[in-house]
Amino acid sequence: MIQHDVVIVGAGLAGMRCALEACKELDVAVLTKVYPSRSHSGAAQGGIAASLGNSEPDSWEEHMFDTVKGGDFLNDQDAVEEYVKAAPRIIYELEHMGCVFSRTPEGKIAQRSFGGHSKPRACFSADRTGHAILHALHEQLMKNSRSVKIYNEWYMHSLVIDGDQCNGVIVSNIQTGEVEVIRAKAVVFCTGGYGRVFKITSNAFASTADGVMAAFEVGIPLEDPEFVQFHPSGLYRQGILFSEAARGEGAYLLNDKGERFMETYAPSRMELAPRDIVARAEQSEMDAGRGINGEDCIHLDLRHLGEARIMERLPQIRQLAIDFLGIDCVTDPLPIQPTAHYSMGGIPVDNNCHVILDSEGTKMHGFFAAGECACVSVHGGNRLGTNSLLDAVVFGERAGKSVLEYARGRDFGNVNEGQEKARVLEKFEDIFQREGSESYNQIRDEMKEIMMSHCGVFRDEQRLKTCIETLKGLQERFKKGKVTDKGKLFNTEIYEIMELGNMLGMAVIIATAALERRESRGGHYRTDFPKRDDKKFLYHSMVYDSPDGLVIKTKPVVITKYQPAERTY
Ligand code: FUM
Repeated sequence: MIQHDVVIVGAGLAGMRCALEACKELDVAVLTKVYPSRSHSGAAQGGIAASLGNSEPDSWEEHMFDTVKGGDFLNDQDAVEEYVKAAPRIIYELEHMGCVFSRTPEGKIAQRSFGGHSKPRACFSADRTGHAILHALHEQLMKNSRSVKIYNEWYMHSLVIDGDQCNGVIVSNIQTGEVEVIRAKAVVFCTGGYGRVFKITSNAFASTADGVMAAFEVGIPLEDPEFVQFHPSGLYRQGILFSEAARGEGAYLLNDKGERFMETYAPSRMELAPRDIVARAEQSEMDAGRGINGEDCIHLDLRHLGEARIMERLPQIRQLAIDFLGIDCVTDPLPIQPTAHYSMGGIPVDNNCHVILDSEGTKMHGFFAAGECACVSVHGGNRLGTNSLLDAVVFGERAGKSVLEYARGRDFGNVNEGQEKARVLEKFEDIFQREGSESYNQIRDEMKEIMMSHCGVFRDEQRLKTCIETLKGLQERFKKGKVTDKGKLFNTEIYEIMELGNMLGMAVIIATAALERRESRGGHYRTDFPKRDDKKFLYHSMVYDSPDGLVIKTKPVVITKYQPAERTY
């Protein structure tokens, strides 16, 4: 049996920042199914928010208010306050670790505008901000390699739980196929989101709900899973992110008639309204037949910015559009569409990243989570752009400190290695022995299609019911799937099947919570209940598993400074 003081699952920004903190005193393992610098955090382009005030006077209070208003007042405000207050320190620390930020002419860290932020507060490295931070943290981790062991290309199957205590994880080495148990005093999940359940998504192939479903399977509820963010600018048909920074730099959104239609939907903020509002505006234009050439896309026009500015501020996205669509945004507008981008919900945690089981804050001892897989909840019903890199670093660091505090001087818990391994080996056997007729690829495609059309930007009761029924049918067909590769070595097919099982489960949870929330708030929009309803729904959803199916309970929203008010832009 492998043994470490702490095992962190996921090596994106949250996981690596957590490791840097925990390794100050503990023996740390970081387990990732890709390679750290390939983690999805690297796909975040436009910036990381902090009220540095380098372009215009700014304050943490304004950052907090914008975040709460952007989140449609579902945010837990005590957590938001701590988070935005930490932001300036976090930026300077990242800079000192070696992250290269773009500068103003006088040499300060440059800051640009982003949707829903009333001040320019996005610190950025051109349009490769996540990438720049990811590499800086990876370098720091390499520097600490004596106390951190990285397990590259390992897959996490399940938690080892003893009552209300987490004692490790069951994993396998993708290269060899060997199943192992890692015993640990504490486990931290930084496993990211689950955008891959949708057909059009900006998420990496690895964002498949493994962490959240492993938590759910041991009785931990999922908080606010109905809140999924659709980013307004995914490249048409590809979903690949085309950064909001383009609009921050002044790009326009145009419909087929050449109109800047945001004037109708958010006259004071135009293209820089929060993402939920812009994505709905785009979808409304397309549904009304004003998509470009009648298709499901609209135009993002950067031409007036000029080549020099595009090359200085947005070089990566220019190249992405050339590579994937053959269109150069210097000379032509780009076809874009809403793309599933971020999960506001996730594993419920307290402000110190300890996983909780209910609205009373009962802890699962030894189990922590941070980053997109966790729900603190600082983003409420809709996250503002550039607040996710901040979330990952602030709460990654905090998880590391909490784990240090927790694991220091503690003994390892009991683990029955044989029994734990057998559980996972059975899962493998079950899949290998299926001689079914169903194609897993077909099932995956159908899941993505129905989630996009029936549980996407616009939702209603009928569509959600159809979606849930279809997904349940797919879960049945999943049991009759046919596996073609029965080998052990680097069998990526088997892991893709396990990921699909997780995604199907997650999709049912998203759609079920969306059906229950009969109001519209943030990224969750019900055409049959188009208004926010604070009287009935100002609460967090907590979705539990039960022998009779999913059960949804509630958890109060923490409101401190800002009372819910109408959200206009
Ligand atoms: O558009 C973007 O650059 C994305 C940033 C974010 O999601 O925070």
